[in-house]
Amino acid sequence: MTANKKLLFLPGDGIGPEVMGEVRRVIDWMAKRRTAAFDITDGLVGGACYDAHGCAVTDETVADAAAADAVLLGAVGGPKWDDVPREHRPEAGLLRLRKDLDLFANLRPAVVFDALAEASTLKLDVVKGLDIMIVRETTAGVYFGTPRGIEDLPGGGSKGFDTQVYTDAEVDRVARLAFDLARKRSSKVHSVEKANVMESGVFWRREVARVHRDFPDVELHNMYADNCAMQLVRYPRQFDVIVTDNLFGDLLSDCAAMLTGSLGMLPSATLGPTDSSGRRAAMYEPVHGSAPDIAGKHMANPLATILSFAMCLRYSFDMGEDADLIEQAVQNVLSGGLRTADIMQDGMAKVSTTVMGESLVAELDKLIGA
Ligand code: IPM
Ligand code: MG
Repeated sequence: MTANKKLLFLPGDGIGPEVMGEVRRVIDWMAKRRTAAFDITDGLVGGACYDAHGCAVTDETVADAAAADAVLLGAVGGPKWDDVPREHRPEAGLLRLRKDLDLFANLRPAVVFDALAEASTLKLDVVKGLDIMIVRETTAGVYFGTPRGIEDLPGGGSKGFDTQVYTDAEVDRVARLAFDLARKRSSKVHSVEKANVMESGVFWRREVARVHRDFPDVELHNMYADNCAMQLVRYPRQFDVIVTDNLFGDLLSDCAAMLTGSLGMLPSATLGPTDSSGRRAAMYEPVHGSAPDIAGKHMANPLATILSFAMCLRYSFDMGEDADLIEQAVQNVLSGGLRTADIMQDGMAKVSTTVMGESLVAELDKLIGA
């Protein structure tokens, strides 16, 4: 066996534990067939952690996450915790992990699998072959900016406010990562802001242009966020890499995700800076939420989480070949006609979470001729 890789598993809420269970199946397969061993530690995050400890993530779990080679997260949230104070809501656990681990670049690929192209709400010729990478900044911007609050006004009435703020260093590192990534793809970056109305947008555009001087071989386009939303549904194939701030990235990545037919198919990686020993903190999670309405019903699609694990192999462990295998196996089970409820199409076979996981592993065996 190769040296053990330390993974922290945070299944979270709703369908999180079910879909993470299918990743375990893939990990067991890796141990058996690929001699790749992973040390897995489990932890609580989100509502599950609130129920046990009264907060959305504990200091110990944040420390475990920092010590792990990679974190794999299921999903957080659900109506059960709607009345919990905001600082303890399930989402706060996710935001704290991003902030404390300095996970500044959230990579959200929106890839249309051929077998699913018809499942998109957009026309086939608009989405076929689509392959976009959204790079969303995740440690700054309006999500974390201060001052923020809800206050009474001295003369009566009240106000609610947040602060959108970016430093040059924060824009620099995420832009650099996006340009680097573009070099491995089609060498085209769209940087997205609202420079027409926001000072922070003017600043973002200026700093991205400065970083771009180090990447003259990469094409840079600046685009306003509202136009980007429109272009994503009009002519999405014009995009390769999109780099944008925390809030615009949140919105645009959901929009891009739906081009692919289902949120149930989309993985993500959130990366931190690389330290002097070449180690980089990273968290991998599906883009979909905790889907409390179908939790425990064996209906959830585990593929987004399994594809997140493939990203983990690629970005954290330099195991691109194994990641390719998993991605190919996903293509094959889909081409073979298997569908979970979220991607169900006429004439296909509707399967449960577990059957999808088992079929994927059987496909992996076929791929390596086992
Ligand atoms: C996401 C989610 C989170 C976000 C929520 C759960 C806080 O929507 O990862 O996109 O807004 O960042
Ligand atoms: Mg979101």
